[in-house]
Amino acid sequence: MATIIGGLTSSHIPAVGNAIHNKLFDDPYWKPFFDGYPPIREWLDHHKPDVAINIYNDHGLGFFLDRMPTFAIGAAAEYRNEDEGWGIPKLDPFPGDPELSWHIIESMVADEFDITSCQELAVDHGFTVPMQLFWPGAPNNPDMPRTVPISANTVQHPIPTLKRALDFGKALRKALLSYPKDVKIVVMGTGGLSHQLDGQRAGFINKSFDQMCMEKIVTAPEELTHISRRELVEKAGAQGTEFLMWMMMRGALGDTVVPLEKNYHIPISNTGAGTMLLECAA
Ligand code: DHB
Ligand code: FE
Repeated sequence: MATIIGGLTSSHIPAVGNAIHNKLFDDPYWKPFFDGYPPIREWLDHHKPDVAINIYNDHGLGFFLDRMPTFAIGAAAEYRNEDEGWGIPKLDPFPGDPELSWHIIESMVADEFDITSCQELAVDHGFTVPMQLFWPGAPNNPDMPRTVPISANTVQHPIPTLKRALDFGKALRKALLSYPKDVKIVVMGTGGLSHQLDGQRAGFINKSFDQMCMEKIVTAPEELTHISRRELVEKAGAQGTEFLMWMMMRGALGDTVVPLEKNYHIPISNTGAGTMLLECAA
């Protein structure tokens, strides 16, 4: 039977992709951010998951405003990366797990989540930067797990509610735990925390809201579902809606999680950067 061993969160800022490329790990600006990752990499090294479910939000590479799925699941043998214009080097394709993908899609649709299934999907920085942070050299790191990308719309309103995101995660948990193969699964939620890239509030960051979210996501994710989408934009910024990915991830972990690692640093580029490792209760 499949097991879910834990959840990982990470911001997915494109500038981080460039900082990785330029090996700025000890640079004073970047060090407090990068220092959050080695303890999580040790845990991954010890547990060696077979599959990473990578929950991210596409920013216009895989989908554009003309066709914007609310929830999309990759069902490809591999996922290519492309130049998005951020100056990040283009990466080799990431291996998928189509059999698990189709199992998840079947189960989610049976549970009344309407999914866009993607037999071809280009993955953007939302997917690739966290992969590189957790598995340096990705996708050419031999320990890197196979991936199933799941993208939710945070780009074009109407976006899903926080409750829908948590419920999606719960249904995903059911899907994963009913997979008959012996695979160890880690679930990633990428993006956030607070940031706004455009308009009059460009550069907006809300430390106290971010810290509240990092606390409640561990102990009381249901409480966070009371935040409306309007309030989320107000408190977290227009792109802080990426916190939906964290809620989807959290729903897949079950009731009780142990927070093993936590790092928060502002600003990284325009963003409140949050990194967490949540281990599933045995
Ligand atoms: C930044 C953050 C993001 O989440 C993103 O998708 C693009 C840019 C930033 O802080 O620069
Ligand atoms: Fe983003």
